[in-house]
Amino acid sequence: MRFSPGAVLFYCLVPLVSSFPANQNTSLVAGRNSTNPGYDCVPHHPCWPNRAQWQKLNSTVGGNLHATVPFEASCYPGNKNYDPEQCKSVQVGYANSTVRSSVYGASQVLNWQSCGNVGCTLQSTQPELQPFFKTCSPGRLASYYVDARTANDVSRAVRFARKHNLRLSIKNTGHDYFGRHVAPNSLAIWTHNMNDMAYHPHFVAHKCPPANAENIGEIGAGVQAAAAYEYFGKHHMGIPGGNDGTVGLAGGYGQGGGHGIYAPSRGLMVDNAVEFDVVTADGKRRTINQCNDPDLFWAMRGGGGGTYAVLTSYKFRVFPEVPINTYTIQANFTNPNTLRDILTAHANNQTTWSSHNVSGNVYYYPNRAEFYFIHPYNDNGSLLKKVTSDFRNYVTKYPGIKIGVNKPVTYPSYRDYIPAVDQLVSKLAPVGVYEVPASRLIPKTLFAPQNVSSLVDAVISGLNQNKKIKTLEVAAQVLMTTPVHHPDVKRMTGVNPAWRDALWHLDFAGGWTTNISISDRRSITQTVLKSLDPLKELTPGGGCYMNEASYLEPDWQRAFFGSNYDRLLSIKRRYDPSHLFDCYKCVGWRGPSE
Ligand SMILES: Cc1cc2nc3c(=O)[nH]c(=O)nc-3n(C[C@H](O)[C@H](O)[C@H](O)COP(=O)(O)OP(=O)(O)OC[C@H]3O[C@@H](n4cnc5c(N)ncnc54)[C@H](O)[C@@H]3O)c2cc1C
Ligand SMILES: *[C@@H]1O[C@H](CO)[C@@H](O)[C@H](O)[C@H]1NC(C)=O
Ligand SMILES: *[C@@H]1O[C@H](CO)[C@@H](O)[C@H](O)[C@H]1NC(C)=O
Ligand SMILES: *[C@@H]1O[C@H](CO)[C@@H](O)[C@H](O)[C@H]1NC(C)=O
Ligand SMILES: *[C@@H]1O[C@H](CO)[C@@H](O)[C@H](O)[C@H]1NC(C)=O
Ligand SMILES: *[C@@H]1O[C@H](CO)[C@@H](O)[C@H](O)[C@H]1NC(C)=O
Ligand SMILES: *[C@@H]1O[C@H](CO)[C@@H](O)[C@H](O)[C@H]1NC(C)=O
Ligand SMILES: *[C@@H]1O[C@H](CO)[C@@H](O)[C@H](O)[C@H]1NC(C)=O
Ligand SMILES: *[C@@H]1O[C@H](CO)[C@@H](O)[C@H](O)[C@H]1NC(C)=O
Repeated sequence: MRFSPGAVLFYCLVPLVSSFPANQNTSLVAGRNSTNPGYDCVPHHPCWPNRAQWQKLNSTVGGNLHATVPFEASCYPGNKNYDPEQCKSVQVGYANSTVRSSVYGASQVLNWQSCGNVGCTLQSTQPELQPFFKTCSPGRLASYYVDARTANDVSRAVRFARKHNLRLSIKNTGHDYFGRHVAPNSLAIWTHNMNDMAYHPHFVAHKCPPANAENIGEIGAGVQAAAAYEYFGKHHMGIPGGNDGTVGLAGGYGQGGGHGIYAPSRGLMVDNAVEFDVVTADGKRRTINQCNDPDLFWAMRGGGGGTYAVLTSYKFRVFPEVPINTYTIQANFTNPNTLRDILTAHANNQTTWSSHNVSGNVYYYPNRAEFYFIHPYNDNGSLLKKVTSDFRNYVTKYPGIKIGVNKPVTYPSYRDYIPAVDQLVSKLAPVGVYEVPASRLIPKTLFAPQNVSSLVDAVISGLNQNKKIKTLEVAAQVLMTTPVHHPDVKRMTGVNPAWRDALWHLDFAGGWTTNISISDRRSITQTVLKSLDPLKELTPGGGCYMNEASYLEPDWQRAFFGSNYDRLLSIKRRYDPSHLFDCYKCVGWRGPSE
């Protein structure tokens, strides 16, 4: 099987869909002045810093400034970094998410390392074959990056970019589905090695007595979920992370929402935030919370990564760990009514499950379903068994159904659960394939008995539309990881309010693994997006999770940010008036010219 790194044209050549308001479609270059510098200096132009200036920056960041070397450069004969020995280790780790996140010059999805028809990737599923391009070019990767170790390093990079009118980018693990962690010709801040952690049984907030609290965790900007589970697990504390061990909790996850198995009982990551250390566009270090820069704190609790400031440290509530109770069922069927009946039973039971904080993921395919119920709760799994028993009996005894797995497992703590979840993630969320998600948050009203049949129809209709895609079987992924017991009535977070009523985060994820044509890629991406239409009709004015959405989502301001958009935009304008931190379809984005 051959794999193409995918030339995604919307970024570097033409947008596939023009979806930003016409009145914001201003050309950066035309409107450039001292309050709108453009940050568009590129190499080989007189504005570009000279050697001595780069060296000076390097000396102020402890020698941690580097010229970007793409991850795969060692595999390209003719490149100055060509090195067959090193290339072997690149090939071995090519689909390994931990390896990919440990170097600046790689992203989780290959697309963002290329730009149109230039790039430096290998053929993913067979990296030992001839490299994809004739020569190695950095594609969308930054020209230089600061491997930041301290908040001062971050501040110096910010000031340097401003002074020289350079585009700035911020990269953490490189999981972003829109490639917002990279920008061509930019100076990047790479946060991966800012990985300190601390547990504060008694936390004293910065000049803010109401934010003082018990059981607060503190993580540097680069900390990945697996390391945090390990560290806080040693203190017998649970944390509001997701399934994937390599996602960065303080980066896009913790600033854009952050849903996982604890969300029904403990809320999203942003719900648990109490204080951030940040560097703002003026290069200033600030400690922000509900008392200090409360608007900025509010915006960074869910209003998106990469938009308002660079976060250097994230402080959030942790909680006594409990056993992780699971129940897994895998069912195959051929009769087309089976899917409708099971989905209907699921939807009818959802309100009850949510009321007991049951979470987990369900994957519905046209001819099979996989249920992964997860219940973090202080018992031996008996409550999970009880509340799912009618449903499980219904599914397992359904005429003609073939049951593969049907089994409960209780893990004493999250750390004991990690090997199982890692196996699941590598099967259900592999990296090194091209993935195009599209999703919708499904509100509770649709689970009222008289509404269930239209909800079920809409899901099945989406699934049927996605059958057209032949490269990969598209599932309807039902994520029961919404913050059902955290209505945020006081509006303390900037996250999309659509989360608050939702019982499902429903995700159709399409993709491909072989070198298909650009028109086929477009058609797959558009099919996946279009398959949401029936669900959109049922949820007018609703929205989706920006971190797991389609990059072609039209009306993105409303879909990603809902009624918070205007307030977020005014905060963006106040803290980043010159648009230093702009990113694709982030608050304040002015269109593809950026
Ligand atoms: C395989 C996979 C599984 C996933 N599972 C989940 C899940 O279970 N739950 C969930 O909620 N999401 C999940 N996601 C989505 C994930 O939350 C987003 O991709 C998120 O943006 C990743 O953040 P990051 O910092 O690790 O990645 P990056 O791609 O490095 O950064 C993401 C964005 O945040 C910005 N950013 C990063 N660090 C900072 C910083 N310190 N200050 C300011 N801006 C910053 C970047 O510029 C970029 O715009 C998953 C994604 C993938 C690919
Ligand atoms: C920055 O300094 C370090 C240490 O002296 C050096 O290894 C590195 O190559 C320098 N970076 C650049 C871009 O010159
Ligand atoms: C991925 O790489 C990491 C770090 O080198 C290693 O510990 C891990 O075992 C690898 N995972 C797989 C599935 O090979
Ligand atoms: C991918 O396909 C394009 C044309 O569709 C072709 O030019 C290119 O060489 C192919 N790449 C690989 C690695 O097969
Ligand atoms: C569910 O979570 C809420 C909020 O944390 C809590 O009040 C409630 O007791 C929990 N219910 C169960 C069954 O765990
Ligand atoms: C759950 O689904 C089963 C099967 O349809 C049904 O018997 C049961 O009544 C449902 N439970 C609730 C609370 O709706
Ligand atoms: C689990 O706990 C329940 C209630 O305390 C008890 O009745 C049951 O026997 C326990 N089951 C196991 C397998 O320990
Ligand atoms: C169900 O289908 C899957 C995918 O086709 C297959 O791998 C699995 O073995 C099947 N299980 C049973 C019990 O038939
Ligand atoms: C059914 O859904 C519609 C929206 O599609 C909503 O207006 C209505 O209130 C729902 N019914 C109930 C009983 O919740």
